[in-house]
Amino acid sequence: MKIALGEKTLKEIREEPATIRNTFQSQATRIKEISTELGQRKPNRVFLVGSGTSYHAGVFGAYVLNALGEILAIPVQASEFEAYVANAVNPHDVVIALSQSGESTDTLKALRVAKKRGALVVGVTNMPGSTIVLESHHSIVTVAGVEESVVATKTFQAQLAVMALLAAELCRELGSLGAERVAEIRHLFEEVATMISENLDAWDKQTKKIAMRLKPSRDVFVLGFGEGFALALEAGLKLKEASLTHSEAFSIAEFKHGPISLVTRGVAVIVIAPSVEEKVEIAERLILELKQKRATVITIIEQGKRLAQGKVDFEISIPRIDALLAPMLQIVPIQLLAYNLALVRSVNPDSPRHLTKVVR
Ligand code: G6P
Repeated sequence: MKIALGEKTLKEIREEPATIRNTFQSQATRIKEISTELGQRKPNRVFLVGSGTSYHAGVFGAYVLNALGEILAIPVQASEFEAYVANAVNPHDVVIALSQSGESTDTLKALRVAKKRGALVVGVTNMPGSTIVLESHHSIVTVAGVEESVVATKTFQAQLAVMALLAAELCRELGSLGAERVAEIRHLFEEVATMISENLDAWDKQTKKIAMRLKPSRDVFVLGFGEGFALALEAGLKLKEASLTHSEAFSIAEFKHGPISLVTRGVAVIVIAPSVEEKVEIAERLILELKQKRATVITIIEQGKRLAQGKVDFEISIPRIDALLAPMLQIVPIQLLAYNLALVRSVNPDSPRHLTKVVR
């Protein structure tokens, strides 16, 4: 039987709307209950730990907690938790351990150290019965179904949904967010799921064209601010994992501090448009500089808006939605671009060389 390249990856991206709906329906009550308990502890800080894609969901989680509340939220790569954070962890802290499989060794190690130091641990995984579920004080199990492709797509989407809802509920418990805003956020998940279904085919078609153009590119940089930075990190990893393309992520402003010197003709730069007005000008100035250096520039931007008067090579447009959940839309064309770039480079994104689904 002939295996179609990337069959599983594409199927799993297509399952994202169902994943969001199922995760929301089955976990919303539990997330509220967990938030109530976390809130009663009046935590000082939240550490979000994970590896690979799950770490990036943690970066997004820290962003939403900072955006909605007044609690210090810090994302930490699970493998560096012991070296950088563990000695400072105390019983007033909450540690959120994210892992699709619930079995990654580094994440488990971080979880165990955090527990030993008295922190309250919340596990977020896609695997009921996994070690992280068994060892966490509380767990949230996303309902993405089994993810067979080595590259995580629908499970990342589920983690984003959980992070947004958990942050909103926790910030309400801690008194920094009103009940009305939380209700508003809860309603957005259905909207996001519908928008993904409606736009998926168009994004697939457009990213196929972009992939053709990027085929000869040696390097791809992905840039974003705030929530866009979390997504840029994930985009950088997705392009590496799925299409074996060298790609790196930076904050838009940080890119000027050195990496920009690598930009020449043939280098591609993906810019996730900032949602904060004051940052738009910084992004626009950078784009003009990138075009002067003859880079191929792709923007991911809300429908009806433009960066640098459209002086870019491709604009991927995203329907207008509350900025807090825009990353759940933006990530889909990014995943499709990684998938389509893999196909034009004859790489199978379902099982790229040297990679395993779980690092034990
Ligand atoms: C491996 C995979 C990555 C994944 C990471 C974390 O490195 O190749 O795609 O993101 O493990 O996996 P987890 O199951 O903990 O989310």
